[in-house]
Amino acid sequence: MTAKQIIDNTLKTLPSDLDPQKLPRHVAVIMDGNGRWAQRRGLPRIMGHPRGVDALRELVRCCDDWGIQALTVYAFSTENWNRPQQEVNVIMTLIEQFLRWELPELMQRQIHLELVGKLQELPESLKKQMHRSVGSTTENQGMRFTVATNYGGRQEILQVCQALAAEVKQGTLNPEDIDQALFERHLCTVGIGDPDLLIRTSGEMRISNFLLWQLAYSEIYITDTLWPDFDRAQMHRALWEFQKRDRRFGKVKS
Ligand code: IPE
Ligand code: IPE
Ligand code: MG
Repeated sequence: MTAKQIIDNTLKTLPSDLDPQKLPRHVAVIMDGNGRWAQRRGLPRIMGHPRGVDALRELVRCCDDWGIQALTVYAFSTENWNRPQQEVNVIMTLIEQFLRWELPELMQRQIHLELVGKLQELPESLKKQMHRSVGSTTENQGMRFTVATNYGGRQEILQVCQALAAEVKQGTLNPEDIDQALFERHLCTVGIGDPDLLIRTSGEMRISNFLLWQLAYSEIYITDTLWPDFDRAQMHRALWEFQKRDRRFGKVKS
């Protein structure tokens, strides 16, 4: 074996100071700081986004290698349309390329891809690629990988309200029967449940309209690292912090 192969194999295994029994089942990530990463190098902001894609590719591999069952990432918010048109175009093109180029590896790893957000408002060619990539991975039984594009937590909650209101109007649902379980069946996280761990890069202490319902009891880990610099060492650190947390869910310490 070459030195590189030995190193690669080592990186693929869960670090020994992490307990495989106490891994978060579902990790959500707000991938923030691409613009600042570029600006700190004297580059235009948009130059940070391709590097952000590189970091995402590595994170998918890392989560799959280490046994995380579900990964949900925030790629584009409903508010991100308010950015300069050129930046929006770059991000849309990068998402499309990512979905096309990563498909063989997603298949090889048996990763099940899901796309959430208001997809109907996205550019046609991106929608076509989304359809192809999701269609190819539906039977995959491995890690569930969800990409949120044109996603907003408030919009998601409103959509659920509209769907339930329509059922009430049709007479197929009684308002008294609307409970948390029913509500959750209409959310984009149906089948994977709430994130156990939310990671946000670039030091911002906010949720920025991500998974508002689902983050109710998630552990939040914020790092100053900018997204393009987020690597396996950073993920190791986030998981290590998570394993030290005491999740009480409103109860007292047992
Ligand atoms: C995150 O990085 C990528 C998207 C929101 C699409 P930013 O582009 O927000 O980077 P900063 O926060 O401006 O540095
Ligand atoms: C959140 O980052 C959205 C994504 C990472 C896709 P933003 O950069 O848009 O969030 P704010 O504007 O700092 O809250
Ligand atoms: Mg940002």
